[in-house]
Amino acid sequence: MRAINKAFFFRIAQLVLASVVGSICAACSNGSGGKGELSIKSQQYFVQGEKLYITHCSNCHQQDGTGLGLLFPPVNKSDFMDNNFDKVVCLMKNGIEGELYVNGKQFNKKMPGIPSLTDLEITEISTYIYNKWGNRRDSITLQEVSTILRVCQPAN
Ligand code: HEC
Repeated sequence: MRAINKAFFFRIAQLVLASVVGSICAACSNGSGGKGELSIKSQQYFVQGEKLYITHCSNCHQQDGTGLGLLFPPVNKSDFMDNNFDKVVCLMKNGIEGELYVNGKQFNKKMPGIPSLTDLEITEISTYIYNKWGNRRDSITLQEVSTILRVCQPAN
């Protein structure tokens, strides 16, 4: 009888544990594109960055970041973003023109900069676009973004 109780107890403990672990993992993969893996600070940037992205960037790059044909390049998985973090930070503020390649496709259309964006806002947007979709870059700091912004080349 005691042996049965013990087995029963362990079975219940197992079920409780499984459901706790299950709900934690559900939070990890809540469709936010890995947001659950970010530090608390980065998660705050991410949330603000999403709003700013929708206001300032989604007209051209689209809400899902896939861009528009050969007019607007994708920010949802972009090898240009992987290889040019400094340029990406700068182009939000100063714009960019001339040909550039994203995932093997050529783009050549002027992107206007948004000079009114603050260093913090650019940190937030960077955190969002670098963690929402195919790219991955955790812990983008305000300090590193400010340092980059201080030495941007004009319009490129
Ligand atoms: C008016 C349309 C427009 C807006 C608004 C805009 N972009 Fe762009 N963006 C472009 C175009 C066009 C290019 C390609 C520039 C070129 O060909 O030299 C580009 C290029 C880029 C690139 C580099 C290429 C790539 O896709 O990896 C990034 C990153 C980017 N934009 C991010 C942003 C972010 C973030 C915002 C908002 C702060 C933004 N853009 C707002 C049109 C726009």
